[in-house]
Amino acid sequence: MAVVRVALDTRSYDIVIEQGALTRAGTYLAGYARKGRLVVVTDAHVAKAQLPRLEASLRAANVAVEPVILPPGEQTKSWRHLEELLDALLALEIERGDHVVALGGGVIGDLVGFAASILKRGCHFIQVPTTLLAQVDSSVGGKTAINARAGKNLIGSFYQPALVLIDPSTLDTLPVRETRAGYAEVVKYGLIDDPDFFAWCEEEGHKLLAGDAGAREYAIERSVAAKAKIVGEDERETSGRRALLNLGHTFGHALEADTGFSDTLLHGEGVAAGMALAFRYSARLGLCTGEDADRVTAHLKAMGLPHDLASAHVTADGATLVAHMLHDKKMAAGTLPFLLARGIGRTFLSKDVVLDDVAAFLDEDRAAAA
Ligand code: NAD
Ligand code: GLY
Repeated sequence: MAVVRVALDTRSYDIVIEQGALTRAGTYLAGYARKGRLVVVTDAHVAKAQLPRLEASLRAANVAVEPVILPPGEQTKSWRHLEELLDALLALEIERGDHVVALGGGVIGDLVGFAASILKRGCHFIQVPTTLLAQVDSSVGGKTAINARAGKNLIGSFYQPALVLIDPSTLDTLPVRETRAGYAEVVKYGLIDDPDFFAWCEEEGHKLLAGDAGAREYAIERSVAAKAKIVGEDERETSGRRALLNLGHTFGHALEADTGFSDTLLHGEGVAAGMALAFRYSARLGLCTGEDADRVTAHLKAMGLPHDLASAHVTADGATLVAHMLHDKKMAAGTLPFLLARGIGRTFLSKDVVLDDVAAFLDEDRAAAA
């Protein structure tokens, strides 16, 4: 069992990581149940796979559970389902002092967090993440959002949870492709500023994917500790520190856009290919060595993750992909900040990347891989 603190003055909270925590959820959550009741929002997959365990544990602690079950999938982060959720929470007479539990992956966490931030001008919420991506990234840090017609995550708020309760054993029921996609975000923390953790990933990452409890717990703890530190330093992504968490995301966003934000390329898979491209582009610019870029590519490939345009199922040329990048919400004052690397664990934010050069690199990179 480990506890990591996110230090944000009055908005500080704990991230509890414990194998089997869902079975003991009553111990952790009963204190948040006003009038002996908790509303748990989840999706249909998680309702089947994990909700019974949480319900049984809460009932044993004399907490009644009111489940709200939404459809699974990215389309649930929409106005329609936000309205449905808000209406359900109002019908359940949720008040400002109440805590709503988000049980699920990043979709449920982002949606419930946003709903909590606006319901009656703000009620509390608790993240109980059940995907690896949500356990190492989206449940921590208070970014909440729904998608708009104009793009993903364009409507949302910074709104911190009261607690994050992580049970790595929930990954037992997660499809392996989803676990692998979430693993890209684990590797990301090593590449940003922790070369020893990247070396751990190279040695032990396969154990995590095989379901080893120790490897899961270690990787989750190390990842959330890294994220908690960065969020504590730059909660609203104003100083450039939090932007480091977007390593691989600008390339990845273009790949996801080209594949229609569909099951062809999951978000974490796009991030994996995006990180490999960011390192190879950094090597091309002479910022890092070719050996470092090769190590990154080799590890992602060994873990079965996309690591170039072909393995990401992307057919577009460089110019088309760069055009997708220009719609990225990270565009600021007409320039697109790029995360590049001076080596493994030495990521930095560059503001003088030439987009035509990126397009040429993408075409060369595809040709070199063919
Ligand atoms: P997801 O929430 O869609 O979950 C993936 C799939 O796994 C779904 O079908 C879900 O029903 C199922 N599932 C979840 N847990 C399960 C379990 N334990 N057993 C069986 N099935 C399970 O996807 P995700 O990858 O967790 O999250 C993606 C979302 O997260 C995107 O919308 C992205 O924008 C967002 N995100 C947010 C942040 C942030 O900081 N807020 C960071 C990264 C990503
Ligand atoms: N996932 C990026 C962030 O939380 O800032």
